[in-house]
Amino acid sequence: MEKRKDFASKMGMVLATAGSAVGLGNIWRFPVEAGNNGGAAFIIIYLLCVLTLGIPLIVAEFVVGRAAHTNTAQAYKRLTRNTFWQQTGRLGIITGWLIMGYYVVVSGWTLAYFLKALATPPTIAAHIAKQPGYWSDFFNELTSDALLPVLCVIAFALMSHFIIVRGVEKGIERFSKVMMPMLFILLIVLCICSFFTPGAKEGLTFLFRPDFSQVTFGTLLSALGQAFFSLSIGMGCLCTYASYFSRDTDLLGTALKVAGIDSLVAIMAGIIIFPAVFSVGIRPDAGASLVFIALPSVFQEAFGAFPWLAYAVSVMFYFLLLLATLTSLVSLHEVPTAFLAEDFRMKRRTATTIVTLSVIVIGTLCSLSMGPLADWKLFGKSIFDCLDWVSANVLLVVGGGLITFFVGWKMESKTLRDELTNYGNYPYHTRKWIIVLLRWFVPFVIFLIFLSGIGVL
Ligand code: TRP
Repeated sequence: MEKRKDFASKMGMVLATAGSAVGLGNIWRFPVEAGNNGGAAFIIIYLLCVLTLGIPLIVAEFVVGRAAHTNTAQAYKRLTRNTFWQQTGRLGIITGWLIMGYYVVVSGWTLAYFLKALATPPTIAAHIAKQPGYWSDFFNELTSDALLPVLCVIAFALMSHFIIVRGVEKGIERFSKVMMPMLFILLIVLCICSFFTPGAKEGLTFLFRPDFSQVTFGTLLSALGQAFFSLSIGMGCLCTYASYFSRDTDLLGTALKVAGIDSLVAIMAGIIIFPAVFSVGIRPDAGASLVFIALPSVFQEAFGAFPWLAYAVSVMFYFLLLLATLTSLVSLHEVPTAFLAEDFRMKRRTATTIVTLSVIVIGTLCSLSMGPLADWKLFGKSIFDCLDWVSANVLLVVGGGLITFFVGWKMESKTLRDELTNYGNYPYHTRKWIIVLLRWFVPFVIFLIFLSGIGVL
């Protein structure tokens, strides 16, 4: 087996971990959730969830990963003899595999949209923007096609493959060090552009002036689910990355940085999207189609007087989405890769290839389930919907519950304490609150999310 390499620099480590968190969850899913749940009030609740639930869970995964210094499946075996708890890691690997299967499909769409934005000259784009229904037709044709989305799945899986195959330091870390700053620059440029759109005032008011009258129990649960997905919690992704952290990394500090960057990106995505949406009179709760159906013409209309600016903004936006998605997919890809490489003593290249091929197979099935295989149903849902539902609403939540319970109650308390304080370098009493949250608050809330996820609440 090849020697295990850690992240080489603190900066690279934080950027790679933030790269895992920042993805479709922030740019595609967050504005939709905020739009459906009344805007600013949702954001406040979401941020509270990140603080009280997200940060303790990130720390919990970090503790397991760094204490064990191995892939998720092995990690629990190293930390406990109890065979039930040893399965927590395996469950995470299965969840990761399934999430990747449908994540790569949406990733493929971002690639298709980026190429479309790049290849459509400004004059033609302006013409298209005048045709109502163009983008919904485009989206429906793209997703139900038998060939194009599958090609995009293959292309995306291969991009991730070539990053992962180079290893943790030379692949993931180097790539994140270039991509994440680029992503930030693009976000800032797009935020500035958004202030000059006609709907800026209305969009920003929607985003920042809370109206608590719309808040329901459902809003709370959506915010919690969103925090889970967006922070990459619940399947050992962060645990795997933490196994590459050095002994002097401050786990709580890193969790705060990652959660801070992730939330900032989500809010910036809102700043980009809502003013544009209001500029053209689309309802902010237009749903999952916001980014793929509403947005393409939004940029055109918002910057209609300057066709080249509209062109540049839309190309930049889809490039941004593509980058963010790729760094997240890479983190998902790493989990089963590390497992195969270490547990089955495979070469990293072989392990990566197996994961890539399996992702292409699952991704292809998922993609085809929106077109030629639309009749294949599992539990009454298409393969895509079924994977999405089972992994996000059931497996992630169950995984998160097991992780918090394991770290809060089952793990040796000395190991937990040592990891939290970096072997006494930080005073224990300033970190004890994390343990209190992990034992009492987080399991209770996760139980609620689970009940709502499976439709009981
Ligand atoms: N957090 C990523 C996003 O926002 C998606 C993701 C990557 C993820 N790794 C994960 C979600 C692990 C759940 C679990 O798009």
